[in-house]
Amino acid sequence: MVCKVSAAILAAGMGQRMRSVLPKVLHQVCGRPMCSLVREVLRDAGIAHVVGVVSPQGQAVRAALGADTDFVVQPQPLGTGDAVRYALIRVVDSAHVLVLYGDTPLLRPETVRSLVCGHIAAGPAVSMLTAEMDDPAGYGRVVRDPEGRLLEIVEQLQCTPQQAAIREANVGIYCVDRSVLDRYIPLLEAHPPQGEYLFTDIVGLVLRDGLDVRTVAADAEEVAGVNSRHQLAEAEAKLRRREVRRLMDSGVTVVDPATTYVDRGVTVGTDTVVRPHSYLLRGTAVGSGCTIGPGAYLDGATLADGVSVIFSTVEGSCVGPDCTIGPYAHLRPGTVLETAVKVGNFAEVKNSRLGVGTKVSHHSYVGDSDVGRDTNVGAGAVFVNYDGRDKHRTTVGDGAFIGCNVNLVAPVRVGDRSYVAAGSTITDEVPAESLAIARQRQRVILEWVRRRFGPAPDRPEEGRGHGGGEPGSDGF
Ligand code: UD1
Ligand code: CA
Repeated sequence: MVCKVSAAILAAGMGQRMRSVLPKVLHQVCGRPMCSLVREVLRDAGIAHVVGVVSPQGQAVRAALGADTDFVVQPQPLGTGDAVRYALIRVVDSAHVLVLYGDTPLLRPETVRSLVCGHIAAGPAVSMLTAEMDDPAGYGRVVRDPEGRLLEIVEQLQCTPQQAAIREANVGIYCVDRSVLDRYIPLLEAHPPQGEYLFTDIVGLVLRDGLDVRTVAADAEEVAGVNSRHQLAEAEAKLRRREVRRLMDSGVTVVDPATTYVDRGVTVGTDTVVRPHSYLLRGTAVGSGCTIGPGAYLDGATLADGVSVIFSTVEGSCVGPDCTIGPYAHLRPGTVLETAVKVGNFAEVKNSRLGVGTKVSHHSYVGDSDVGRDTNVGAGAVFVNYDGRDKHRTTVGDGAFIGCNVNLVAPVRVGDRSYVAAGSTITDEVPAESLAIARQRQRVILEWVRRRFGPAPDRPEEGRGHGGGEPGSDGF
């Protein structure tokens, strides 16, 4: 942006209508605190200097707004007018100030840019966005004279019944000359019962002095403020639809947008198909040509191209090209799968690296381990990583075969091309190209059943006097 503009995000209010211990602006929409979405819009709009007005307890709000924000503390929540007064302390050399609230998560950067550019080009004292609302309850009303000339903004609480019927609402996004703020903010008066200074009063004051206020019509959906849990859910649904649409526009097939949950900032490559009931959350990045879902839950997951995830959970994991996950698998944080790894039914992998072509097909727990390439982990194998106090690592080489129901008690190593026989509990190193069997040798007691329980009922002629061994000698 050419001309020097500062922005002020007001984020010091309590948000009592949310009935929450969490400040309103920290409530999340598509996985992101509302105020951080507003902050991101300003970054995208190219506004370099942004002041965050926060409460004295606003540490988490500061973190959500980010380190590139200039902060000021509003000691008490005495209204939006009071909050702007504090913001001005940090506005040193900008001629214009964009004022906006931390509870408008659907705002777009284009809208901000055109408001600011239009303000600079037209040169009024104040530019403000307004929107025609089907239900303007809770918003300040834009009051005009019979000729349509703007008179003032009247808050819902102060509205006469006629004013309450006005559908044009103030949406709380303004661009104001710095000199105008310096002159009029001190003139705001506290409103009973709470003694709040309403920033919106500035409009009437400016107009009464004959200065110009320019209104710009905005899309009601985009500039909606969130004051309640109900509006939070509406904002969530709208932003989600927008994110899903963004994916579809970029070449992703989304089979059922209504049941596809995509957090802000998630990326998906072209020709990936997202099937119903799937969640792509918190910084998930999916490559091209993948099949996601049905029923995929991806949280902080990085998937390369050609990956398939069906009815499975992938959290904080990195999945290489052409891997297949599921159905019913769980990749937990710290998992790295190289190329063409298979993790199948009811298998759980945690904090482990699995080499190219390795398979963990069914019912296994693979935790805290490094597994080489082309190794097979049989059904029911467990990497016993926890001794009740500490976690230990297991190392398995390339081309190894871990039989069914094996326990690998960590710390332990299994060498390249080794075999571990089914049902073994391994506590010592298995050298390369060896077979380890750690189980009792099988014993067979012939005809034990017949001696104990007699012949089968349908074959009574058999059995009498037959059979070897001493009766009762092996009667367990
Ligand atoms: C405000 C507007 C209203 C407009 C609506 C649009 C005023 C007086 N009213 O009402 O005309 O239609 O937004 O959504 O401005 N905040 C502070 N310090 C305070 C009070 C509030 O930082 O002392 C912050 C809040 O954290 C919030 C923002 O200002 O992010 C707006 O406050 P809120 O209480 O939501 O205002 P509304 O009642 O929605
Ligand atoms: Ca609000």
